[in-house]
Amino acid sequence: MIDFPLSTSMLISPRSLQLSAWLGHIPFASWLIEQLEPRLIVELGTHRGASFLALCQAVQEQGKTSRVFAVDTWEGDEHAGYYGDEIYNELREVQQRNYAGISEMMRMRFNEALPYFDEGSIDLLHIDGLHTYEAVREDFETWLPKLSDRGVVLFHDTCVRERGFGVWQYWSEISQQYPAFEFTHTHGLGVLLVGKARHPALSRFAEQWVAGGFAPINRLFDVLGSNIKRTEEIERVYVGLSDARSEVNRLGAIAHDSRLRCEQLEQELHQAQERIRHAEQEVQQHRLQAEHNALTPDDLRRIAGEERARVVEELQAMVVPQLEGNTRKLDQLLRPWWRR
Ligand SMILES: C[S@@+](CC[C@H](N)C(=O)[O-])C[C@H]1O[C@@H](n2cnc3c(N)ncnc32)[C@H](O)[C@@H]1O
Repeated sequence: MIDFPLSTSMLISPRSLQLSAWLGHIPFASWLIEQLEPRLIVELGTHRGASFLALCQAVQEQGKTSRVFAVDTWEGDEHAGYYGDEIYNELREVQQRNYAGISEMMRMRFNEALPYFDEGSIDLLHIDGLHTYEAVREDFETWLPKLSDRGVVLFHDTCVRERGFGVWQYWSEISQQYPAFEFTHTHGLGVLLVGKARHPALSRFAEQWVAGGFAPINRLFDVLGSNIKRTEEIERVYVGLSDARSEVNRLGAIAHDSRLRCEQLEQELHQAQERIRHAEQEVQQHRLQAEHNALTPDDLRRIAGEERARVVEELQAMVVPQLEGNTRKLDQLLRPWWRR
């Protein structure tokens, strides 16, 4: 049984949840702020701000006077991936709205931030930048002089052994040189007590870690951290569901419009078919009429004969009286001659 101060600080409920591999360590971070009461906290590697915002919230909720500094290029690296300005802008907006009075975001490389901190001034340093052996070693060694006599250093990802991660290797070396303990959940978090003035509870954790009795504490913070991870997962699923619902509504509206258009087109098609049917009827009527009016060769012969007879009759009516008149005139002229 490890004797350590249980408190509600480890039941912190994060105000906002970012997608991050760090969420499971928030209960311990909050409890650590309460115990350590750090005057100056510096984080190397912030990305979306899961750890940074949790540290700020813990400081604020517990009414501590700590100042929290986040250093990052907010450009990404080969392990976190590279990203655009929107990540920095979103985090900056949250930080300014909630924690402007207690925190600063320093957009620069870690070594460029060094001159802004006094030697021996940092009580809590969180190293979560690039995760190669060389990078973690450089981050620790360059920042070590800045740590106070109460200084505690957190190393994230001490359990990851893939993609060139080398924190585990550096942790296995450095944890031999200072009192230390390590959480194995949430990719691992190494806690190194570099300052000589150590907090008693942290010293007991370090002793138990060496003695093999740290598992219950690891388990306790793992379970508390799992709740936060699940909450984030549920929120993410809800966002996915809400997006899916919006998509269903959008597609439903398109389907409705398409159905209306189909009905309209069906009506237009029906009207066109009616017009075609009507036109066909008219054509049929004209064809019947034409057939009805059509003349056979016999009809033509008969009509031609009748026409010829009519014309002959007219001619006769016109010509015969004239001929008869002329004949009479000729008779009168010739009559004297006939008498001789
Ligand atoms: C693993 S992420 C930090 C995760 C964060 N602590 C969280 O809670 O999710 C690593 C970050 O370190 C930053 N980084 C890596 N090397 C850096 C360097 N030398 N200087 C400044 N930023 C660096 C990257 O831009 C990246 O955003």
